[in-house]
Amino acid sequence: MTDLRTQLENKEVFATELTDIWKSFDGGNSFVIKGLDLKIPKGSLTAIIGFSGTGKSVILKHILGLHRPTKGSIKVLDHELGKMTDQELVVFRRKFGVLFQSAALFDDMTVLENVCFPLIEHTPLKQEKIIEVAQEKLMQVGLAAAHFNKLPSEISGGMQKRTGLARALALDPEIIFYDEPTTGLDPILTEMVDDLIVETHKSRPGTTSIMISHDLAAAFKIADFVAMLDAGQVLLSGPPEVFFNTDIDLVKRFVNKGMKLQ
Ligand SMILES: Nc1ncnc2c1ncn2[C@@H]1O[C@H](COP(=O)(O)OP(=O)(O)O)[C@@H](O)[C@H]1O
Ligand SMILES: [Mg+2]
Repeated sequence: MTDLRTQLENKEVFATELTDIWKSFDGGNSFVIKGLDLKIPKGSLTAIIGFSGTGKSVILKHILGLHRPTKGSIKVLDHELGKMTDQELVVFRRKFGVLFQSAALFDDMTVLENVCFPLIEHTPLKQEKIIEVAQEKLMQVGLAAAHFNKLPSEISGGMQKRTGLARALALDPEIIFYDEPTTGLDPILTEMVDDLIVETHKSRPGTTSIMISHDLAAAFKIADFVAMLDAGQVLLSGPPEVFFNTDIDLVKRFVNKGMKLQ
């Protein structure tokens, strides 16, 4: 009885579980991911940090099912990705919302049309309902109705980010991914996007948010779980406190350097 309860309680404690992941792109022995283990708590706002080229984006693409590991197991929302066909993965990916560095909006579609797009592609909803849902998502991310019929080129960078986020939220994802959401932005816009990520996370209880960030101050400020990657492995993971009380020299240097740069 106790065992069953523990088992049930532990079910889906992790949004993603990566176990002993190895990845080589050339089919040979040059691995960019080398035995990586990473468990991301369900409902957390997780930041994945680390120097450039350490495998952060590659890992994100594995969780999204866009890359398959050379070896190892990836469980996302209790589903083993390795057991899914490419077609099943396409369907499964509807549980995800992704906001990349550039908002990657369709230039020739209006703000509203951009957010309608995933709803038209992936739901049987009628046009009227699609527009209603898209408007609601845009309002949730703080975009005023006056901008809904503008093209991406006619709105500011901040508004483009909001539109990209509204599109990522269109299908009510269970996991929201952000890859370097503030890279290249000025400090004011950076703060706006950081706040938007926190607000979005808080307003959707149970949703897991996974953010790749080079901005350590922001990562430690807004995330409740942090994982630092180095050379294709997880060097350290846990709540932000563990990063300030660690003996691992590389983590100390990275954290000190990152915090000074801000
Ligand atoms: N599609 C690919 N083919 C070959 N090598 C790749 C590919 N994608 C990434 N890599 C390599 O994997 C390593 C990790 O890259 P990446 O995950 O993008 O780093 P970052 O931590 O900066 O996001 C890099 O050496 C990169 O060149
Ligand atoms: Mg990257």
